[in-house]
Amino acid sequence: GGADALAPDLAGRRVVISAGGTREPLDPVRYLGNRSSGKQGWALARVAAARGAAVVLVAANVELPAPFGVRVVPVGTAEELRSAVLTEAADADAVVMSAAVADFRPAAVAATKMKKGAASEPNSIPLVRNPDVLAELVTKRAPGQLVVGFAAETGDDDGDVLAHARAKLARKGCDLLVVNDVSGGQVFGRPENAAVVLASDGGSTEVPRGTKDAVAAAIWTAVTTRLGDRGE
Ligand code: CTP
Ligand code: CA
Repeated sequence: GGADALAPDLAGRRVVISAGGTREPLDPVRYLGNRSSGKQGWALARVAAARGAAVVLVAANVELPAPFGVRVVPVGTAEELRSAVLTEAADADAVVMSAAVADFRPAAVAATKMKKGAASEPNSIPLVRNPDVLAELVTKRAPGQLVVGFAAETGDDDGDVLAHARAKLARKGCDLLVVNDVSGGQVFGRPENAAVVLASDGGSTEVPRGTKDAVAAAIWTAVTTRLGDRGE
């Protein structure tokens, strides 16, 4: 069945996965970055390849060795990730955006290293918005292509984790949203790494024990179920 992590249920499918975290340069030696390890994206690639898919992994600043049989496309910035993902997504059955894409980048990149004591010594960094790759994928996707987003959420005064996640799923327009509860497990009753896969068709799958491999297996099962539903 579809829940078997090694079932060849992705044979003949092409999938694109983004992983890691983008880095937005400030000057030739500095950048704004984030702490994404890329391990969730690597798990997604490993599991998809094991289940028979042709896998492209668009990897933002990840030093891990390429998973067996997976084509890795290295990128640095959000703009580079956007370009690579849109190119690779053109003939893909599914695209999974597990990368942490910087929402903002420095408005200007200094051509030379910023120095202490220089006349131009900065005391703030103007930022501009990066493109929203997931939103663009949703707009440009071919009929039948599944688009999967990720979200790390906490509850707050406006709603709990799932309420925020449902709203984000609707806002983003993707088919599936993988939700990581980063508020200490209060909502899902787990200490950490809790994940829920929410679907735009109303479905929702709680991943028991939120290891990255378990989350990856649950995501591909949710994807294959819906690819099958489209009669392909
Ligand atoms: N994402 C993207 N491009 C961006 C930012 C995010 O493609 N510029 C993708 C991420 O890869 C992820 C999903 O969008 O799959 C959700 O990211 P998240 O940061 O939770 O969403 P945002 O809309 O940026 O919301 P927030 O303001 O909460 O950061
Ligand atoms: Ca964001």
